Amino acid sequence: MKVSVKVPATTANFGSGFDCFGMALPIYNLITIEETVLPGTGIEINIMSETDDDDEFAIEHIPKDENNIIYKAVEMLYNSIGQSPSELKINIKSQIPIAKGLGSSASIIVGGLLAANELLGRPADEAALLSIATEVEGHPDNVVPAIVGGLVLTSQEEDGSIVYRKLAWPEEWHLTVCVPDYELATDISRSVLPKEVPLKNATFNTRRTAMFIEALHSKDAELMKLALQDKLHQPYRTKLVPGLQDIMDNLKHEENVIGCVLSGAGPSILIISQKNNLDKIKSIVSETWENYNVKTDIRTYKVEEKGAQILDSIA
Ligand code: HSE
Repeated sequence: MKVSVKVPATTANFGSGFDCFGMALPIYNLITIEETVLPGTGIEINIMSETDDDDEFAIEHIPKDENNIIYKAVEMLYNSIGQSPSELKINIKSQIPIAKGLGSSASIIVGGLLAANELLGRPADEAALLSIATEVEGHPDNVVPAIVGGLVLTSQEEDGSIVYRKLAWPEEWHLTVCVPDYELATDISRSVLPKEVPLKNATFNTRRTAMFIEALHSKDAELMKLALQDKLHQPYRTKLVPGLQDIMDNLKHEENVIGCVLSGAGPSILIISQKNNLDKIKSIVSETWENYNVKTDIRTYKVEEKGAQILDSIA
């Protein structure tokens, strides 16, 4: 049997909502898992990049054996029903840039889990898939929108269960994703975060996540400008993202810009804006990054309301 799953990219955090808010974007990875007939062939993992820029280097450094996150996710699913995976061929066609803060790893985990669940006759329900995916990824804000689509408020509870609610994104607010030509691994981007933060910074973010929900609800761009500010993660990560601070400063007073935040753990930047000065915004970002000898791919997207989809299931 062979199953193919299409999984969207995601952008997480939205500034203040660190490890909480995530949104699916219309860029996709295609993950296929095939049960091979020859016993003893073990697990084969192939990754092919279909991005415009060159992901070859990143792909070379991704483990193609049992240490790959897709294998870990699939193994946890099999183990949850008392089985072990074997004789599986896993193909990943990657259009989501790797190590750029766009949920590439979450999409692979989700694709592997959904495909394996289908192969096994769907033993896991959505709640079980969300828990396994979050355990492998470490936080729920990428995996949940990759599974359910849209903009999502997510939480991993102390018992490991996942609570989520979908939120509506105002159609008139544009989402522009700026991807630089350098990579930043999530574990490095998390390693610079402090274990403890000042209470005043925690309460700063608490207020802003509350504002985020109300700003969405009332489509209040002025409130959203405040809501996107963050003191929990971006200040520590700025040093890992050359050009970020300048881009934020240069966009601060630009007409129609609502906010500029790191996409996930970075290094990509997400710009939220209204109306039609997208070309100006894009040239400010690319010119600022040019000063750092950084090339960029900048595109404006709509929210992908659909989560991961099973495309083929061939017996
Ligand atoms: N919320 C996570 C982080 C997303 O910012 O580290 C990682 O993609």
